[in-house]
Amino acid sequence: MTIDPSLLSLFPTSTAVDTDGALTIGGVRLSVLADEFATPVQIVDEAALRQRAREFTEGLSQRRPGSDVAFASKSFPCTAIYRVMAEEGLHIDVAGAGELITALKADVPAGQIVLHGNAKTDHELGLAVETGVGTVVIDGWDDISRIERIDGPTQSVLLRVIPGVDAPTMAAISTGHHGSKFGLPLDEARRAIAHMQSSVRFNLRGIHLHIGSQILTVAAFAEAVAAVADLGTFDVYDVGGGLGVRYHRTNRAPTVDEYLDTITEAASTHLPEAAELWIEPGRSLVAQSAVTLYRVVTVKRGAPTFVAVDGGIADNLEASTYVGTRFDAVLADRPDGGSPVELVGRQCESGDLFASDLPLRNPVIDDVIAVPVTGAYTYTLLNNYNGALRPPVVFVRDGSAKLVVRRETYDELTTRDVG
Ligand SMILES: Cc1ncc(COP(=O)(O)O)c(C=O)c1O
Repeated sequence: MTIDPSLLSLFPTSTAVDTDGALTIGGVRLSVLADEFATPVQIVDEAALRQRAREFTEGLSQRRPGSDVAFASKSFPCTAIYRVMAEEGLHIDVAGAGELITALKADVPAGQIVLHGNAKTDHELGLAVETGVGTVVIDGWDDISRIERIDGPTQSVLLRVIPGVDAPTMAAISTGHHGSKFGLPLDEARRAIAHMQSSVRFNLRGIHLHIGSQILTVAAFAEAVAAVADLGTFDVYDVGGGLGVRYHRTNRAPTVDEYLDTITEAASTHLPEAAELWIEPGRSLVAQSAVTLYRVVTVKRGAPTFVAVDGGIADNLEASTYVGTRFDAVLADRPDGGSPVELVGRQCESGDLFASDLPLRNPVIDDVIAVPVTGAYTYTLLNNYNGALRPPVVFVRDGSAKLVVRRETYDELTTRDVG
């Protein structure tokens, strides 16, 4: 039995099709994982995740020695993922106390952590200083005055600026345009730079920017680097994350090499020769390392035929009308073609739609469906819509599977209810 190569290319690198047509990841059959851990379940190919991390770290250091990759942990904030990324030598970006505490719980060294956020509280900045967070990204004047009020050693910081670049992506995830809520406009940034350079509380190491997420043309990244070049001469330029990924077999996305070529060439042209170039990939680092398994609950035949599974926008909000990503999918034991169906979830919205016109071969109740490219922002956006339980996360590698996050229980749905 065969599988469309363009569909297979969405799956983690260790994915294979057995002679009887069953899909395996990390040497484990997806149907076996569905039996053992129940569904929905998020499966992470640990080797693929590590390999992707190295593509970024080795690719960047070969092109620009002395540079650093930070994992934008908002894209998959669970301790096992933090641990893998830290073991692979990445710095870890956190936004807020919750991600900071999770990273520390995963034994990420504080000096490797970069704290972000456009509205950091006194508590969060206090915690960052107290725990020795390596870098705080200053987002505006209130971050500056809050740090000045905290008693502590000199804090290494970057200043987030608005490069004024309209990234070609959805408005909700575009962040580098004029009028963005993140960072300071360039004129004001100059005043903040002068202020911090004259204060003993700050070691201003450099400039930070991030123009948005799911960006599929690399030119915008180069434009952003050029836009901040005349702010001064700094040790560090952190150009954020944002590289987009393919979600569907018909999508195209730049490769990591194309992205790294673009930003390092822009850095060579516009930035000081000795400056470190930092990047913060999230989506492009984790998206393709995971698939989510579901079971078919019902098949409603007609025009169109609806195949509904035991998950939906509770465990994958990216598939919602709000975000609008259209996923691809396949039957885990019959991956070769079939008639087009609408693959839908079980939450109470018509926007709870994974895929339209999806070819599936005679789907029936209890079939296992594998949805690829679910590693980014799905765990992040889990919710209990319709009382759904947040699903487990399982790592697979070399023929064995390890549970790293267990499934939520029905009891846990009400544990915070005190009235
Ligand atoms: C400051 C910052 N850096 C990095 C990222 C990661 O972006 P992406 O997941 O698109 O790579 C984000 C997320 O939007 C972000 O806000």
